[in-house]
Amino acid sequence: MITSNKTIAAAVLGINGMGATHVQAAKDSPWINRVMGYEPTSELASKYSIDRDIPATHHINKILNDPQIKLVYIAAPNEFHCDLAIQAINAGKAVLCEKPMGTTLNEATRLLQAKQNKDSFLQIGLELRYSKLYMQAKEWIDQGLIGTPVNTHCDYYCSEGHARGSWRSESETSLIAEKLCHYLDLPRWWIGDEVKNVYSVSAPNVVSYFNHPDNHQITYRFKDGAVSTLAFFMHTAESFDGDPLQDIIEKQVDDGHRLTYLIYGTAGAIETDVFRRRIRRWEFKDAPAKLESKLVDKITYPSKEDSLWMHNTHGQNIEVSRLVAHGLPPFTEASDSFQSMKLVFAAERSELEGQVVEMSEV
Ligand SMILES: NC(=O)c1ccc[n+]([C@@H]2O[C@H](COP(=O)([O-])OP(=O)(O)OC[C@H]3O[C@@H](n4cnc5c(N)ncnc54)[C@H](O)[C@@H]3O)[C@@H](O)[C@H]2O)c1
Repeated sequence: MITSNKTIAAAVLGINGMGATHVQAAKDSPWINRVMGYEPTSELASKYSIDRDIPATHHINKILNDPQIKLVYIAAPNEFHCDLAIQAINAGKAVLCEKPMGTTLNEATRLLQAKQNKDSFLQIGLELRYSKLYMQAKEWIDQGLIGTPVNTHCDYYCSEGHARGSWRSESETSLIAEKLCHYLDLPRWWIGDEVKNVYSVSAPNVVSYFNHPDNHQITYRFKDGAVSTLAFFMHTAESFDGDPLQDIIEKQVDDGHRLTYLIYGTAGAIETDVFRRRIRRWEFKDAPAKLESKLVDKITYPSKEDSLWMHNTHGQNIEVSRLVAHGLPPFTEASDSFQSMKLVFAAERSELEGQVVEMSEV
């Protein structure tokens, strides 16, 4: 790893919610010497400037025209990602844009083209690739410890987390784009192959005020034959009432919440489990009488390391600042993230059309 003391200035567009995490990572980064925030109105800029303890503006040009600001993090609501990222790229900035890469295939395509036209740094915030649970799975797969991965299954069940009237509930952007893009991206990364086709269905909603489905069952096949499935419901499980004395994961572990992957290979299997804070690995042996399976690895982690293991946005952002300060390319190319977004939009289309969608036709 390069450890020179080269530093740059950075900006965060949208400094509430996830933007607060981006600001904190920028403050913590040894590669960033100054952070500026942006909010769309002077009231919001003033309010969040105080909350985040950084200067903030509602004049985007103050950021775009500042030659010392080399890196822009985008944490605005999804509908603004494409235009903000293109503006920043055209102003010569490196960009880390939160997922999704756009709310439509057209937006994601426009953003990729803008990046390619300028040959600029663009990384999409699919930060599970920086999270230890999923990196460990990748490491075991790359070491050949489960043979060839042929089947992955993700179960993601949670209580309703998007309040009535919030931009997420009101948005027509599906939860496949907003949330599940992370969980469609990982199998592509692990299996290292492109998707051939996808079929997705959703049942009638339980959450009546969502402007989009609250559940999805997505099945997709890779070109070399591997198959992945994802089952998602946002209403199962007991709602968390925010008891400050209770650890949220401890509360949720056995009341219906689930976020697991099972990854089956020809020689073993891996299970990641967020709510049990563990990753396990089995080895398969073709014994004379039958296939024998043995649990050979189990790693657990303490609650204080939750973010590091399951959602490492902080680590992703610090690493991106290192790459940009040293003129290095992204860890994940935008063209790779674009393939995950194509899968997202193909799954949405499959639900609308009620049929299998071939990726070659998207
Ligand atoms: N990677 C992850 O796991 C993860 C987790 C949470 C959120 N996110 C992403 O972060 C983004 C923000 O989500 P959030 O939960 O922080 O939302 P939020 O509503 O809490 O915060 C969004 C902020 O953006 C500001 N904003 C609104 N319009 C803007 C504009 N045109 N330009 C700049 N800023 C604008 C809002 O005033 C607000 O401060 C979303 O794209 C979301 O998908 C990613």
